[in-house]
Amino acid sequence: MRRRDLLASMAAAGVGGGALTVTAGRAETVQFPAGFVWGTATSSYQVEGRGDRQADTIWDSFARAPGAIVDHSNGDIACDHYHRYADDLALMAKAGVKAYRFSISWARVLPTGSGGSDPRGLDFYSRLTDAALKAGIEPWVCLFHWDLPQALQDHGGWSDRLIADRYAEYASLMAKHLGDRVTRWVTFNEPNVHAIIGHGFGEHAPGLKSREAMFQALHHQNLAHGKGVQALRATGGDRFKLGTVLSLQPCRPADTAPASAAAAQLWDALWNRCVLDPPLLGRYPEALAEYTDDLVQDKDLAQIRQKLDFLGVNYYSPMYQKTDPAGLIGTGWGAVPEGMPRTAMDWPVDPQGLLDVLSDLRDHYGNPELYITENGACFAETVATDGRVDDAQRVAYLHDHIAVARRAIAEKVNLRGYFAWTIMDNFEWAKGYTAPFGLMHVDRATLARTPKASYDWFAKLAHSNTLPAA
Ligand code: FCB
Repeated sequence: MRRRDLLASMAAAGVGGGALTVTAGRAETVQFPAGFVWGTATSSYQVEGRGDRQADTIWDSFARAPGAIVDHSNGDIACDHYHRYADDLALMAKAGVKAYRFSISWARVLPTGSGGSDPRGLDFYSRLTDAALKAGIEPWVCLFHWDLPQALQDHGGWSDRLIADRYAEYASLMAKHLGDRVTRWVTFNEPNVHAIIGHGFGEHAPGLKSREAMFQALHHQNLAHGKGVQALRATGGDRFKLGTVLSLQPCRPADTAPASAAAAQLWDALWNRCVLDPPLLGRYPEALAEYTDDLVQDKDLAQIRQKLDFLGVNYYSPMYQKTDPAGLIGTGWGAVPEGMPRTAMDWPVDPQGLLDVLSDLRDHYGNPELYITENGACFAETVATDGRVDDAQRVAYLHDHIAVARRAIAEKVNLRGYFAWTIMDNFEWAKGYTAPFGLMHVDRATLARTPKASYDWFAKLAHSNTLPAA
């Protein structure tokens, strides 16, 4: 749906629904429910910098492989959030942000993945947590955002079933360390992307190109999620609010061929259902049984399906699929419809796709408490001579997606918050520092943070709880 059509259809549907829509003179005001959570998110490897972390993660190793990262960079410095977190939190607070989802670097706290912990790592996350609370920002702690300790990879990584127990020990350590101050816990960030892009396509760490490793990574992350939830509950009981974060993308046929429709459905089973169905419904998609059956042992599904307090949805764009006999499961990327706008990542822009994802969760997964835990756009803007960064395209992207989020609430989706990805430009995985998603620009030489127009726009939104014009 084009942007203009979308806005027209929203107006027709009376977005904001009755009492929540205030018509003030000319312009309609789109207001969010009281208590709606406005947040931002980052991840350890993308922003922290190495600091005094001794042990490698799989991303340190991957970044050393020639050609793995487009600009040959790595996360050694990143945004130096490890040292600058207090200033960064002050900038978040100034923007009206009330929640900060960050991830723990497993290797920083447990250099070999289990056993002896590093007090410097534990102390850092303690200070970060305290500083967030002091700034009036609720810490949302994510336990795994792709930077597995290299030591665990050396033992087979996610191919080794026993890693689920190591993960549960790690979850328990963090719960005991931060649980007196942290109530929101996220077990995983996008286990599907980590499994499929990192273990199937080899474009992310650990750089494996194996269908077998991909399914092992999917199942063992699911198992680790289940065991992790149990470990967290054992420490925090119902006081802890537990959830996981998934990258959900509508999978659409690239053309009208019936085979493409089947390919899109199969890819949907892999991309979305393999991480949604086990934790929420206690099963794997039938269509992929030939790959999952041998991996799933007797009590696994019962272990994986634990009571959750919320689900995090990361949404950026839809996917287009067709058949491809050489593909991981016989499907492959198809062309994006002509004329569809794209970001600088080449990802198609379609706010309607967010509504598709949220409605599916309402209709088929029991309408769980939802948070959009990532949404944002990559556009390569420059800092003008007056120091301003006018990222109008990012503002438009955010505006249109957040408008859809409001519409979803009007349509009875149980959506409680929205986290912008991301507070500042950072290490965008295989794209290195060439793909900025931030509300703030980060100068690579000085690491100075410069709020962009999108930061000001988001601040207006978060302070007023009302959608500003784009
Ligand atoms: C998501 C990742 C996040 C970031 C955004 C752009 O898939 O969770 O770390 O890279 O994409």
